[in-house]
Amino acid sequence: MTLGKPVTKAVIPAAGLGTRFLPATKAMPKEMLPVVDRPAIQYVVEEAVRAGLTDLLMITGRQKRALEDHFDREPHLERTLELKGDLDRLDAVRHASRLGPLHYVRQGDPKGLGHAVLCARQHVGDEPFAVLLGDDLIDERDELLSTMIEVQARTGGSVIALIEVDPTEISAYGCADVSPVEGQDHVRVNCLVEKPSIADAPSNLAVIGRYVLHPAVFDVLEETRPGRGGEIQLTDALQTLASSDCEGGGVYGVVFKGRRYDTGDKLSYLKAVISIASERVEFGEELKAWMKAFVS
Ligand code: G1P
Repeated sequence: MTLGKPVTKAVIPAAGLGTRFLPATKAMPKEMLPVVDRPAIQYVVEEAVRAGLTDLLMITGRQKRALEDHFDREPHLERTLELKGDLDRLDAVRHASRLGPLHYVRQGDPKGLGHAVLCARQHVGDEPFAVLLGDDLIDERDELLSTMIEVQARTGGSVIALIEVDPTEISAYGCADVSPVEGQDHVRVNCLVEKPSIADAPSNLAVIGRYVLHPAVFDVLEETRPGRGGEIQLTDALQTLASSDCEGGGVYGVVFKGRRYDTGDKLSYLKAVISIASERVEFGEELKAWMKAFVS
């Protein structure tokens, strides 16, 4: 019986090849691309920690060693900074290694997001767990993951995060058809489609990269055949769970209205860096003034 077990585990898929950022990602994982002064993946790990998740599992692959190094101690660098009295930087360097414990599993073949989640099965066991995708950054001032964890505890099913997008953008996302649930701030998911065309999309509600899943998803993923792009899609497994009455069946959605930044492609990555940088106290105002002058 898994209902009522607290969510303590986060799964962070980070095995993707990062082809959209080549050649920058030829020898460096895309998750290490800096967003101002922290790698994108650190924002995601920090979000999981803020939501109270204490056991973090990263799904990595070939050429991803920089991720493990980033979240590990770096005694030589720490000693150098300490001797110089550069305590702010020392703190920043140590902070990344204190977010853990982080665990790592390798996804040998990049067979899709559903397959990456399946690689977490042994570590997660029979408990509900969160999945955080690195391409989506959620502004730390806005609440999402804790709300999703509460909804999972209330419903006993799986929970996805949704945003409203312009209908022309829906083909870049999983798309959900939902119904309101009386007296609740979450919705019930009736059906999910991975990256539909505008014509086939059941709504303009797009799935973003935060999930709180019932472990029943693992059995479903084992049976899920390759879908869109020849990959095992998490969306397809959730579609099966949405219409299932078995234990762990039922998918619910939290519609997020806060600030979300997409670092998944070059243009949206640049927008994310600029939005986040323009809110930094040290130079945000100066940057905004410069941007105004630059565009005029
Ligand atoms: C994945 C999911 C998709 C979701 C998206 C959110 O797609 O398959 O359903 O909408 O993440 O970022 P990807 O962007 O990895 O192709």
